Amino acid sequence: MIEVIGLRKSFEGTEVLKGIDARFEPGKINMIIGASGSGKTVTIKCMVGLIEPDHGDVRYSGRTVYGLHIKERKKIRQEIGMLFQSAALFDSMTVYENVAFPLRMFTHQPEKQIKERVEFCLERVELSRASQKFPSEISGGMQKRVGIARAIAMDIKYLYCDEPNSGLDPVTSIVIDRLIKEITVEYNITTVVNTHDMNSIFEVGDNVVYLHKGAKLWEGHPNEIMDSEVPELRDFIFASPFIRNAYQHKLSFKKD
Ligand SMILES: Nc1ncnc2c1ncn2[C@@H]1O[C@H](COP(=O)(O)OP(=O)(O)OP(=O)(O)O)[C@@H](O)[C@H]1O
Ligand SMILES: [Mg+2]
Repeated sequence: MIEVIGLRKSFEGTEVLKGIDARFEPGKINMIIGASGSGKTVTIKCMVGLIEPDHGDVRYSGRTVYGLHIKERKKIRQEIGMLFQSAALFDSMTVYENVAFPLRMFTHQPEKQIKERVEFCLERVELSRASQKFPSEISGGMQKRVGIARAIAMDIKYLYCDEPNSGLDPVTSIVIDRLIKEITVEYNITTVVNTHDMNSIFEVGDNVVYLHKGAKLWEGHPNEIMDSEVPELRDFIFASPFIRNAYQHKLSFKKD
């Protein structure tokens, strides 16, 4: 479980996180949704320690990140997998080398063991045949799958995905969403996904946190989202003409 407690962050005098509190459960896809600029990426960067918050704390299974000695922080860091907006692969390395990278970086495993693990992870994302290709030689969806294989190579307990569907067509998006969901359940990972893709929310979301201008305005199950009476959330959801049409009956009590 990951707990976020009173997270605040300002950049040059502008507060972009205004005290975020949340709990993210293992074995679940925990979604953070919100408009562009609402603070989703800054939130997860504070959670993984890429940005130091001004106030607040993040606890991984009860372990406080921001009071910790650097060595203990490093240990938690090794339990975290990240899949960022662009797949962020190393262009000069093959698919195989990309997945092997964290194992070489963080462990002292012999090459034989690394090979077994990389082959297992590539098989898990159905990419065994692409292991000797370079990122530029495979599709965007395949690159995301390499990113997932690399994230799970380390036996992670926590997984962050920032807009895992960006740049993907709707069908490939669903494939990636389902793969993330399967892995989350299979390894009981606490997964946090940033998205503004309504389809993903309904397809794989277990819990949703809605951010608006750096504040959490709503939290709940995707099934409850259409009945929310938070005006900002309603504007966010019903911005899509498709959703407006499909859920017209839910619009009737909207105050204009
Ligand atoms: N390093 C930084 N320096 C200054 N301002 C920043 C920095 N990082 C983020 N911000 C600002 O913080 C706010 C929140 O940004 P953030 O990237 O978290 O938004 P987001 O919800 O992830 O948006 P998107 O959906 O477009 O990815 C924005 O106004 C952004 O300009
Ligand atoms: Mg972002």
